[in-house]
Amino acid sequence: MSKQKLAAVRGMNDLLPAEAPLWELFEARVYDWLRSYGYQQIRTPLLEHTEVFVRGIGEVTDIVEKEMYSFEDKLNGENLTLRPEFTAGVVRAAIEHNLTYDGPRRLWSIGPVFRHERPQRGRYRQFHQVNVEALGFAGPDIDAELILMLRRLWETLAIGPMRLELNSLGQPDERQQHRRDLIAYFERHQDRLDADARRRLHTNPLRILDTKNPAMQSLIEGAPRLIEYLGAASRAHFERLQQLLRANGVEYTINPRLVRGLDYYNLTVFEWITDRLGAQGTVCGGGRYDPLIEMLGGRPTPACGFAIGVERVIELMRETAGVPQRPLCDVYVLHQGGATLDAALRAAESMRDAGLDVLLHAGEASLKSQMKKADASGAEFAVIVGEAELAAGTAAVKALRSRDGTWPFAEQKAVALDRLGSALAEALESLSE
Ligand code: HAM
Repeated sequence: MSKQKLAAVRGMNDLLPAEAPLWELFEARVYDWLRSYGYQQIRTPLLEHTEVFVRGIGEVTDIVEKEMYSFEDKLNGENLTLRPEFTAGVVRAAIEHNLTYDGPRRLWSIGPVFRHERPQRGRYRQFHQVNVEALGFAGPDIDAELILMLRRLWETLAIGPMRLELNSLGQPDERQQHRRDLIAYFERHQDRLDADARRRLHTNPLRILDTKNPAMQSLIEGAPRLIEYLGAASRAHFERLQQLLRANGVEYTINPRLVRGLDYYNLTVFEWITDRLGAQGTVCGGGRYDPLIEMLGGRPTPACGFAIGVERVIELMRETAGVPQRPLCDVYVLHQGGATLDAALRAAESMRDAGLDVLLHAGEASLKSQMKKADASGAEFAVIVGEAELAAGTAAVKALRSRDGTWPFAEQKAVALDRLGSALAEALESLSE
């Protein structure tokens, strides 16, 4: 009976070893970057009660309407959802553990999120976000800091140029008035709306402004603009943010159509976009979401944050600099089984004590074929623990790579087994100088 070949779920990727160094480099840079702005990590579960996202992200959003992986827990009937984003879960955790009790908090997370979208380049069903939330900050200074932070990250990763688009969504009451006028406007032009727009007209008319349908562009151009409905305080917030950005030399464009796909936002929203990834060029999106914490049952607390699409950034890094080439180890240890294996295992441990990365040959093979493996591993040195060497209490060390035709060691050198760690650590050190 032939068994069907197993494969990963569509839109969900394996990260293979050849690609992993790029992710590790990205993650290392991100850790340093977040620490340099005083952010603390928070890890929340992959699963939350569905209610967290329905109330948080909003019932009439693409994510909640059609993109969530939700199911009923067979044991207790609870409705659960694989997180489609971090913000709602982080806010749930912050409320549950009273994290803003002592004042504001700067929090970050990294990990997979799940959305049932149509997969294409840069758009997956399991993807990763670096998510940053600043809880308890009301002023535009933190909005500006988040944007400056991102500019620094793009520079650190050398993945520019990146375009910043900015908008203000004002406050809920300001949006209400705009919404009424927007519905009235679209109702007057019913005949020019496509099916999607008609469906959204009374539920989420703001999202109609986001349509990609070219036939509706001129209609959208003439629609009432939310920015003209903002009151004095909202305008002042937006103005101050722009002043801070200008003072720091940040270039941006105001995009009055930038509405974002999640309902919790107010005031500032922004996206960073690259032209190098085709249709899925938004690398990072975020903004202020002052109403959310109260919506999820906490005390009213202003907040602001963003999420970076890791796969998109990784693709830019790959395009710019490729995958970093890294040897598997510093030292590859060869042996001839029996007592030489005992000695080789001990020697490998002692070299790791000295800080070296060591790969010990597993299984039995001729020294010649082990040497081929040693070479292919990218190691700087092969350490041969053969029977003759063991009898003399030594190992033969062979330098595998020359530097401009010069070798760190003479072709092969006998080193006492108990001196291997220090001798090779020293040799490596001198190579990296
Ligand atoms: P978002 O705009 O839905 O925002 O997602 C943030 C980023 O995730 C996007 O800019 C994009 O780079 C990436 N992304 C989204 N969908 C996919 C996909 N299907 N495949 C690959 N990458 C994708 C949020 O999630 C908000 N929670 C951000 C936020 C945090 N706002 C305030 N705090």
